[in-house]
Amino acid sequence: MKYDDYFAAIPHLETDRLILRAFYREDINTYLEIIHDPQVQQFLGGGVNLFNEEPHISNWLNNINGRLLKSKTVFTWCVEYRSEKKVIGRIDLGGFVKKTMAEISYYFSPEYGGMGLATEAVKEVTQFGFDDLKLHRIQAAVMPDNVPSLKVLKKAGFVEEGILKKYLFGKEFHDTVMLAAIREENLNK
Ligand SMILES: CC(C)(COP(=O)(O)OP(=O)(O)OC[C@H]1O[C@@H](n2cnc3c(N)ncnc32)[C@H](O)[C@@H]1OP(=O)(O)O)[C@@H](O)C(=O)NCCC(=O)NCCS
Repeated sequence: MKYDDYFAAIPHLETDRLILRAFYREDINTYLEIIHDPQVQQFLGGGVNLFNEEPHISNWLNNINGRLLKSKTVFTWCVEYRSEKKVIGRIDLGGFVKKTMAEISYYFSPEYGGMGLATEAVKEVTQFGFDDLKLHRIQAAVMPDNVPSLKVLKKAGFVEEGILKKYLFGKEFHDTVMLAAIREENLNK
Protein backbone atom coordinates (compact mmCIF):
# COMPACT_ATOMS: atom_id res chain seq x y z
CA MET A 1 0.00 0.00 0.00
CA LYS A 2 1.24 3.53 -0.76
CA TYR A 3 1.56 6.30 1.87
CA ASP A 4 -1.57 8.16 0.68
CA ASP A 5 -3.73 5.01 0.75
CA TYR A 6 -3.40 4.66 4.55
CA PHE A 7 -5.49 7.82 4.95
CA ALA A 8 -8.60 6.27 3.37
CA ALA A 9 -9.82 5.23 6.83
CA ILE A 10 -8.38 4.96 10.36
CA PRO A 11 -6.11 1.88 10.14
CA HIS A 12 -7.12 -1.02 12.40
CA LEU A 13 -4.15 -2.06 14.56
CA GLU A 14 -3.93 -4.76 17.21
CA THR A 15 -1.49 -5.70 19.96
CA ASP A 16 -1.62 -8.46 22.58
CA ARG A 17 -3.89 -6.46 24.88
CA LEU A 18 -5.20 -3.60 22.73
CA ILE A 19 -7.25 -2.73 19.69
CA LEU A 20 -6.50 0.61 18.02
CA ARG A 21 -9.41 1.67 15.83
CA ALA A 22 -11.60 4.61 14.80
CA PHE A 23 -13.68 6.40 17.44
CA TYR A 24 -17.47 5.90 17.31
CA ARG A 25 -20.25 7.81 18.99
CA GLU A 26 -20.70 5.09 21.64
CA ASP A 27 -17.07 5.63 22.76
CA ILE A 28 -17.57 9.30 23.47
CA ASN A 29 -18.79 9.24 27.08
CA THR A 30 -15.86 7.13 28.24
CA TYR A 31 -13.43 9.19 26.17
CA LEU A 32 -14.73 12.45 27.66
CA GLU A 33 -14.41 11.06 31.20
CA ILE A 34 -10.75 10.24 30.49
CA ILE A 35 -9.88 13.53 28.85
CA HIS A 36 -11.62 15.66 31.50
CA ASP A 37 -9.71 13.95 34.32
CA PRO A 38 -7.42 16.55 35.96
CA GLN A 39 -4.62 13.94 36.10
CA VAL A 40 -4.82 13.61 32.31
CA GLN A 41 -5.01 17.37 31.72
CA GLN A 42 -2.10 18.09 34.06
CA PHE A 43 0.71 18.05 31.47
CA LEU A 44 -1.13 19.02 28.28
CA GLY A 45 -0.93 22.81 28.46
CA GLY A 46 -4.63 23.06 27.59
CA GLY A 47 -3.84 21.57 24.20
CA VAL A 48 -6.62 18.99 24.03
CA ASN A 49 -10.10 20.26 23.32
CA LEU A 50 -12.53 19.80 26.17
CA PHE A 51 -16.16 19.53 25.10
CA ASN A 52 -19.11 17.50 26.32
CA GLU A 53 -22.13 18.36 24.22
CA GLU A 54 -23.48 18.67 20.73
CA PRO A 55 -22.64 19.93 18.18
CA HIS A 56 -19.04 19.65 19.40
CA ILE A 57 -19.17 15.85 19.72
CA SER A 58 -20.39 15.36 16.13
CA ASN A 59 -17.94 17.93 14.83
CA TRP A 60 -15.03 16.19 16.56
CA LEU A 61 -16.02 12.75 15.23
CA ASN A 62 -16.51 14.15 11.72
CA ASN A 63 -13.14 15.87 11.90
CA ILE A 64 -11.04 12.96 13.14
CA ASN A 65 -12.72 10.35 10.92
CA GLY A 66 -13.24 12.62 7.91
CA ARG A 67 -11.72 16.02 7.29
CA LEU A 68 -8.44 15.47 9.15
CA LEU A 69 -7.93 12.09 7.49
CA LYS A 70 -8.72 13.36 4.01
CA SER A 71 -6.28 16.23 4.47
CA LYS A 72 -3.72 13.66 5.77
CA THR A 73 -3.30 15.74 8.91
CA VAL A 74 -3.59 13.16 11.70
CA PHE A 75 -4.63 9.61 12.61
CA THR A 76 -6.64 9.61 15.84
CA TRP A 77 -7.10 6.13 17.27
CA CYS A 78 -9.45 5.01 20.00
CA VAL A 79 -7.60 2.55 22.25
CA GLU A 80 -9.71 -0.36 23.47
CA TYR A 81 -8.61 -2.79 26.19
CA ARG A 82 -9.44 -6.11 24.54
CA SER A 83 -10.22 -8.26 27.57
CA GLU A 84 -12.78 -5.77 28.93
CA LYS A 85 -13.90 -4.26 25.59
CA LYS A 86 -13.35 -0.92 27.32
CA VAL A 87 -12.13 2.39 25.86
CA ILE A 88 -9.02 3.31 27.84
CA GLY A 89 -7.38 6.02 25.79
CA ARG A 90 -6.54 7.84 22.62
CA ILE A 91 -3.37 7.94 20.55
CA ASP A 92 -2.56 10.27 17.64
CA LEU A 93 0.04 10.30 14.91
CA GLY A 94 0.05 13.62 13.05
CA GLY A 95 2.06 16.69 12.14
CA PHE A 96 3.34 14.96 9.01
CA VAL A 97 6.16 16.69 7.17
CA LYS A 98 6.84 15.68 3.55
CA LYS A 99 5.66 12.11 4.23
CA THR A 100 8.82 11.49 6.26
CA MET A 101 8.32 12.87 9.79
CA ALA A 102 5.49 12.85 12.31
CA GLU A 103 4.63 13.52 15.95
CA ILE A 104 2.98 11.11 18.37
CA SER A 105 0.74 12.00 21.33
CA TYR A 106 -1.53 9.99 23.66
CA TYR A 107 -3.95 10.19 26.59
CA PHE A 108 -4.77 7.19 28.77
CA SER A 109 -7.14 6.54 31.65
CA PRO A 110 -5.40 6.77 35.06
CA GLU A 111 -7.61 3.83 36.08
CA TYR A 112 -5.46 1.58 33.86
CA GLY A 113 -2.16 3.37 34.55
CA GLY A 114 1.12 1.60 35.18
CA MET A 115 0.12 -1.57 33.30
CA GLY A 116 2.31 -0.85 30.30
CA LEU A 117 -0.71 -0.21 28.08
CA ALA A 118 0.38 3.22 26.83
CA THR A 119 3.81 1.79 26.03
CA GLU A 120 2.19 -1.04 24.07
CA ALA A 121 0.14 1.45 22.03
CA VAL A 122 3.09 3.78 21.38
CA LYS A 123 5.22 0.85 20.19
CA GLU A 124 2.47 -0.27 17.81
CA VAL A 125 1.86 3.18 16.30
CA THR A 126 5.60 3.77 15.97
CA GLN A 127 5.94 0.47 14.15
CA PHE A 128 3.04 1.41 11.89
CA GLY A 129 4.79 4.72 11.15
CA PHE A 130 8.04 3.04 10.19
CA ASP A 131 6.82 -0.19 8.54
CA ASP A 132 3.72 1.07 6.72
CA LEU A 133 4.06 4.83 6.26
CA LYS A 134 7.85 4.45 5.86
CA LEU A 135 8.47 7.53 8.01
CA HIS A 136 12.04 8.20 8.95
CA ARG A 137 11.51 10.13 12.19
CA ILE A 138 8.75 10.14 14.80
CA GLN A 139 9.01 12.71 17.55
CA ALA A 140 7.26 13.51 20.80
CA ALA A 141 7.19 16.67 22.90
CA VAL A 142 6.79 16.17 26.65
CA MET A 143 6.77 18.47 29.66
CA PRO A 144 9.86 17.77 31.83
CA ASP A 145 7.72 16.92 34.89
CA ASN A 146 5.67 14.32 33.02
CA VAL A 147 7.74 11.39 34.28
CA PRO A 148 5.24 8.66 33.25
CA SER A 149 5.17 9.94 29.65
CA LEU A 150 8.97 10.18 29.47
CA LYS A 151 9.11 6.58 30.71
CA VAL A 152 6.58 5.42 28.12
CA LEU A 153 8.56 6.92 25.25
CA LYS A 154 11.92 5.60 26.43
CA LYS A 155 10.45 2.11 26.92
CA ALA A 156 9.14 2.38 23.34
CA GLY A 157 12.62 3.18 22.01
CA PHE A 158 12.49 6.99 21.84
CA VAL A 159 15.64 8.91 22.73
CA GLU A 160 15.79 12.25 24.50
CA GLU A 161 17.31 14.92 22.24
CA GLY A 162 17.18 18.02 24.41
CA ILE A 163 15.07 20.83 25.77
CA LEU A 164 13.15 23.21 23.53
CA LYS A 165 12.96 26.47 25.46
CA LYS A 166 9.55 28.12 25.82
CA TYR A 167 8.09 25.81 23.19
CA LEU A 168 4.40 26.24 22.33
CA PHE A 169 2.92 23.31 24.25
CA GLY A 170 -0.84 23.17 23.78
CA LYS A 171 -1.87 26.73 24.46
CA GLU A 172 1.04 27.59 26.74
CA PHE A 173 4.79 28.17 26.46
CA HIS A 174 6.87 25.62 28.34
CA ASP A 175 10.42 24.34 28.35
CA THR A 176 9.75 21.01 26.65
CA VAL A 177 11.67 17.75 26.26
CA MET A 178 12.00 16.60 22.65
CA LEU A 179 12.32 12.86 22.04
CA ALA A 180 12.48 10.93 18.81
CA ALA A 181 12.58 7.46 17.32
CA ILE A 182 14.55 7.10 14.09
CA ARG A 183 13.65 4.52 11.46
CA GLU A 184 17.17 3.24 10.81
CA GLU A 185 17.85 2.78 14.53
CA ASN A 186 14.47 1.11 15.03
CA LEU A 187 15.10 -1.38 12.20
CA ASN A 188 18.34 -2.47 13.83
CA LYS A 189 16.65 -3.33 17.15
C1 LIG B 1 1.58 9.25 30.43
C2 LIG B 1 0.55 8.13 30.29
C3 LIG B 1 0.21 7.93 28.83
C4 LIG B 1 1.14 6.84 30.88
O1 LIG B 1 0.19 5.78 30.69
P1 LIG B 1 0.41 4.34 31.35
O2 LIG B 1 -0.55 3.39 30.69
O3 LIG B 1 0.41 4.46 32.82
O4 LIG B 1 1.88 4.02 30.84
P2 LIG B 1 2.75 2.70 31.09
O5 LIG B 1 2.12 1.83 32.12
O6 LIG B 1 3.03 2.13 29.76
O7 LIG B 1 4.12 3.31 31.65
C5 LIG B 1 4.11 4.32 32.65
C6 LIG B 1 5.40 4.31 33.44
O8 LIG B 1 5.45 5.44 34.31
C7 LIG B 1 5.56 4.99 35.66
N1 LIG B 1 4.89 5.99 36.51
C8 LIG B 1 3.57 6.23 36.61
N2 LIG B 1 3.38 7.26 37.46
C9 LIG B 1 4.59 7.66 37.87
C10 LIG B 1 5.05 8.69 38.75
N3 LIG B 1 4.20 9.52 39.35
N4 LIG B 1 6.39 8.84 38.94
C11 LIG B 1 7.25 8.01 38.33
N5 LIG B 1 6.88 7.02 37.48
C12 LIG B 1 5.57 6.86 37.26
C13 LIG B 1 4.96 3.63 35.66
O9 LIG B 1 5.38 2.89 36.77
C14 LIG B 1 5.50 3.09 34.35
O10 LIG B 1 6.88 2.81 34.40
P3 LIG B 1 7.47 1.33 34.63
O11 LIG B 1 6.99 0.48 33.49
O12 LIG B 1 8.94 1.55 34.62
O13 LIG B 1 6.92 0.87 35.94
C15 LIG B 1 -0.75 8.47 31.06
O14 LIG B 1 -0.43 8.69 32.40
C16 LIG B 1 -1.48 9.69 30.53
O15 LIG B 1 -2.27 9.58 29.62
N6 LIG B 1 -1.21 10.86 31.12
C17 LIG B 1 -1.93 12.08 30.79
C18 LIG B 1 -1.76 12.55 29.37
C19 LIG B 1 -0.33 12.75 29.00
O16 LIG B 1 0.47 13.24 29.79
N7 LIG B 1 -0.01 12.36 27.77
C20 LIG B 1 1.31 12.52 27.24
C21 LIG B 1 1.53 13.91 26.77
S1 LIG B 1 3.20 14.10 26.21
